[in-house]
Amino acid sequence: MSRLVYILNGPNLNLLGKRQPQIYGYETLADVEADCRKLAGELKLDIRFHQSNREYEIIDWVHEARESAGAIVINPAAFTHTSVAILDALNTFDGPVIEVHISNVHKRESFRHHSYVSLRADGVIAGLGTQGYQLALRRVAQLLEEKKG
Ligand code: DQA
Repeated sequence: MSRLVYILNGPNLNLLGKRQPQIYGYETLADVEADCRKLAGELKLDIRFHQSNREYEIIDWVHEARESAGAIVINPAAFTHTSVAILDALNTFDGPVIEVHISNVHKRESFRHHSYVSLRADGVIAGLGTQGYQLALRRVAQLLEEKKG
């Protein structure tokens, strides 16, 4: 099983740190990527870290992950609540999928309570801030280890 993990981020997450910091905090996406790279090194995982405001790019990265990756960590941002297309793409991927939300979506508007991606995700992390990405990576490392047997 490949130790390559795709970490995918949806729309507006490029503004992390500037965008509604009372909800999403002051860490930037570059900070999150740096933290993930450091931890991935410790866990002996390789990562591809991407962000896009365009749905099709996220779908294309999932297709790419099918060819090479062992797991996907995804914060689909607003596409979580709207995108059957991202769900369909994730359903073509065989490895573990962990869904991450920085904020606790269940404490927010009701339209954020439903996630298409959760229909595929093996685990969901919400409301733990940007630390959620680290926890997702640790879980992925564990699952890849278990698969190796
Ligand atoms: C988010 C929650 C979504 O509802 C929202 O649209 C986002 C970010 C989060 O990380 O908390 O853009 O996925």
